[in-house]
Amino acid sequence: MCGIIAYTGRRQAAKVLYDGLTRLEYRGYDSAGIAVLNGWRLDCIKRAGRVCAIADARALAGTCGIGHTRWATHGGAEDKNAHPHVCGKFAVAHNGIIENYAALKAELSDMGHSFSSDTDSETVAHLLAASYRGDLLDAVGRTVGKLRGSFALCILCTDFPDAVVCVRQKSPLILGRAADGVLAASDVPALGGCGEICVLADSRIALLTPAGAELYSFSLARLPCVFAPNTLRASVCDKGGYAHFMRKEIEEEGAAVVRTAASFDEGAARRLCADGFSRVFLVGCGTAYHSALTGARLLEEGLRVPVRAELASEFCCRRPLLDRCSLVLAVSQSGETADTLAAGRLAKKYGARLAALTNAGHSSLSRLADHCFLTGAGVEVGVAATKTYAAQLAFFYAFYAFLRGQKAAYLQKFAAAHRKLLSREGEIRPLAAKLTGAQGVYFIGRGADHPSALEGSLKLREVSYLPGAGYAAGELKHGSIALMDGNTAVVAVATQKELKEKMKTSISEVRARGAFVVAVTPFDDIPADQVLSLPACPQRYYPLLTQVPLQLLAYHAAVCRGLDPDRPRHLAKSVTVE
Ligand code: AGP
Repeated sequence: MCGIIAYTGRRQAAKVLYDGLTRLEYRGYDSAGIAVLNGWRLDCIKRAGRVCAIADARALAGTCGIGHTRWATHGGAEDKNAHPHVCGKFAVAHNGIIENYAALKAELSDMGHSFSSDTDSETVAHLLAASYRGDLLDAVGRTVGKLRGSFALCILCTDFPDAVVCVRQKSPLILGRAADGVLAASDVPALGGCGEICVLADSRIALLTPAGAELYSFSLARLPCVFAPNTLRASVCDKGGYAHFMRKEIEEEGAAVVRTAASFDEGAARRLCADGFSRVFLVGCGTAYHSALTGARLLEEGLRVPVRAELASEFCCRRPLLDRCSLVLAVSQSGETADTLAAGRLAKKYGARLAALTNAGHSSLSRLADHCFLTGAGVEVGVAATKTYAAQLAFFYAFYAFLRGQKAAYLQKFAAAHRKLLSREGEIRPLAAKLTGAQGVYFIGRGADHPSALEGSLKLREVSYLPGAGYAAGELKHGSIALMDGNTAVVAVATQKELKEKMKTSISEVRARGAFVVAVTPFDDIPADQVLSLPACPQRYYPLLTQVPLQLLAYHAAVCRGLDPDRPRHLAKSVTVE
């Protein structure tokens, strides 16, 4: 989490940095700050709140500077905890976690340093100041040698008015070369104007000056710095006339699915399967975990070996049965989720093969994995995963079809069904408004509908803050049915013919306790208070259809409550801390 950016060149830095921060805001929006070198002087403006809270920083003069947008880990969302942190001649913007910050802070305090924030990051600025003997790179090298944890850093020093030093260790950082200067940022959209980019590997230090970039190892050995063309268009951050990115990105799902199916890499799938394996784990977090649950059902049927989906954060809390015959497929739209990366590293440590399914080809995960599959969703800006979820499901359908020696023909037809579902938005809007009056909204489903229920619930909770949960419908009677009363609403997903009667029973049970029931179903005999009907499709593909009305429900519930679905409280798009 957190987004960092640096610029040095011929333009006024503050404007470049501010624009970049607005494109990185999805990574955290608890506070923002910009520091600019104006000759030997360092000017810094930082405040709690979104990037727009520091709009006045755009007026700072100077052509070299750094910026930060924060997702709070250590210390609340307050002005004092906003980055950049300044100590003596140094200013630092940090993304990641300094795990040994308490010990470092104690050491520095003994040396007479006093701290003005509650953050782990401020220790980096103090360490730099304490290590500095007039040689900037030497001070950075000594500082990073003392840090434990994950860190991407952008560093200014008033003795070097046109230089920025950038560091990468386990948190993403990408360099960009533009006609007027050099940038570094946590993600490519902030480098939209750059013709060329260079994705930094771990344990790298980059010295940026208007003349270009120099690359070093942590032991300060000079390394080649290779740039490649930046293929991402600057316009990807455009809302395209929609009120929110989330709504625009739901609209883009038809195309995302078709692109993902068309670009399914059969060669890579063949090479992966040729390795042979006796068990498969799919790991991911949040929405990626939910797509992994559907993926596991499909791949187990296709591969005929045990396939399990696991939460990446839990995978690392036990000693999974991993060996050279295991395959771990890590699912992550960003490819930067710390828990998923940790699960991937664990897999490699025990000799398992690691494959990745991600939407970001330049990500840490895609570089860690032995095999990388890409979804064709395009950049997703809204914090809620929508089109990337659809694209992950499309990948699993394409993989399943490949394993069966078929083509996933329905994926080509999905766009038409998707349009049909979107045309029912008029029905969903008032229903979403009704749900906002409930004290709890619970999602239930059985079999292939269970992951859809979990995902529908997550989406509603994260953007509308309505309390609730997703349950396996058969589990309700083992405890959670106690929650049901006249103030609760239940969204029942019922798409599987052989489970229909059982779902009808679960629905009757919750209605008998007074719950208002919405059924998401292609069937016309489900006993619900309201039905959101799904168009007919091959049964296996219903999870792809189901998520469309569920996402719209969540979106409209958020809008109805006056919330910004693109920036839900306490969340960030890319969760780069464990
Ligand atoms: C989805 O709406 C969430 N914001 C979140 O659960 C997300 O899916 C999760 O953090 C995993 O992200 P990743 O796919 O980038 O790894």
